[in-house]
Amino acid sequence: MAFVICEPCVDVKDTACVEVCPVDCIYEYEGLNQLYIHPTECIDCAACEPECPVEAIFPLEDVPGKWQSYIAINADILDTHPASTAVGRSDGDAPAPDAAQPMAASAPASTLDSADIAALRQLLRDLGDKKTTSDDALEEILPLLEKLGVTVTSA
Ligand code: F3S
Repeated sequence: MAFVICEPCVDVKDTACVEVCPVDCIYEYEGLNQLYIHPTECIDCAACEPECPVEAIFPLEDVPGKWQSYIAINADILDTHPASTAVGRSDGDAPAPDAAQPMAASAPASTLDSADIAALRQLLRDLGDKKTTSDDALEEILPLLEKLGVTVTSA
């Protein structure tokens, strides 16, 4: 988990954060009074933090003590509310395709799940830290590409 949405979002739901998230990891649900950042889909880019007009978004390590409970609130949201029921997701109360969720609207039939994204993120870190070689990294990436329907004829 990288960033957390805290109490100031409650009943505000400005959604400016959603519009800048490059990986579409901020979830909104009809009937719930705040938005949530997916703990493993978030790539820690920090684009959302300055966009929130009520300063509801914090890096995990900077969540104020009085709002520590929001760490679990964000982390556990998908346990009780499937992604597909979120606003703008496949069978949620979807806005027009050209609205705030362009990545969801154009997502392929096969997608990487949160475990795949976490593995890919770790792989990129390992590459950056030179804990793995590009050839070994490619061997791990190829199955993910195939999962997305990409046919690899030679590597
Ligand atoms: Fe909430 Fe701020 Fe996003 S109010 S919806 S965290 S921009």
